[in-house]
Amino acid sequence: PIRIVVLISGSGSNLQAIIDACQAQQINGHIAAVISNKADAYGLTRASNAGIETKVLSHKEFANRDDYDTALAQLIDSFSPDLVVLAGFMRILTPDLVQKFKGKMLNIHPSLLPKYQGLNTHQRAIDAKDAEHGASVHFVTEELDGGPVIVQARVTILADDTADTLAQRVHEQEHVIYPLVVKWFSEHRLTMEAEHAVLDNQVLPAHGAD
Ligand code: GAR
Repeated sequence: PIRIVVLISGSGSNLQAIIDACQAQQINGHIAAVISNKADAYGLTRASNAGIETKVLSHKEFANRDDYDTALAQLIDSFSPDLVVLAGFMRILTPDLVQKFKGKMLNIHPSLLPKYQGLNTHQRAIDAKDAEHGASVHFVTEELDGGPVIVQARVTILADDTADTLAQRVHEQEHVIYPLVVKWFSEHRLTMEAEHAVLDNQVLPAHGAD
């Protein structure tokens, strides 16, 4: 089984979906630790409830991003992970940190990348009168929300959607696709080569939908 470290900042519902998939042995791995930059993240409670080791590394205790990410890289390394999963970890990572875990760090982003990188994705999709919205799981590279896409889930935007109702439906899809991608990785079926994700020897389109 692969060793997984999950990074969170908040509720941790995606973490929960991955915990559940590990417990159901759908993922051939186990979560060695959950790390949060926020002490009050509810995901820490979810991890403790599942008997998973938790660590808090607050960015407020560091003078700058480089120092924080150096400490974060050391903390992650101390668990010798095969895979690092960003699950609502709301921090921009330095190129050094990204480089260190290249090909073994995944992120989930609440949009159909390359659309709506950054924040407030649900409201932006509504404001643009898009017909569809969704979520993307991708490998992390130096380009913010720009790494090779692995899977996307699509959600139809309804006439009366608010950012909250839309976010809720996107979340349901996230909880399906993120454990699926971690499962593939745990079965050694998924790699990053050059700037593409490769699944079962098939090169996937790097930029997802548009
Ligand atoms: C998820 O919707 C994830 O896509 C998003 O944060 C949420 C975390 O929810 N990530 C980002 O916006 C990354 N920039 P969760 O804590 O319940 O898993």
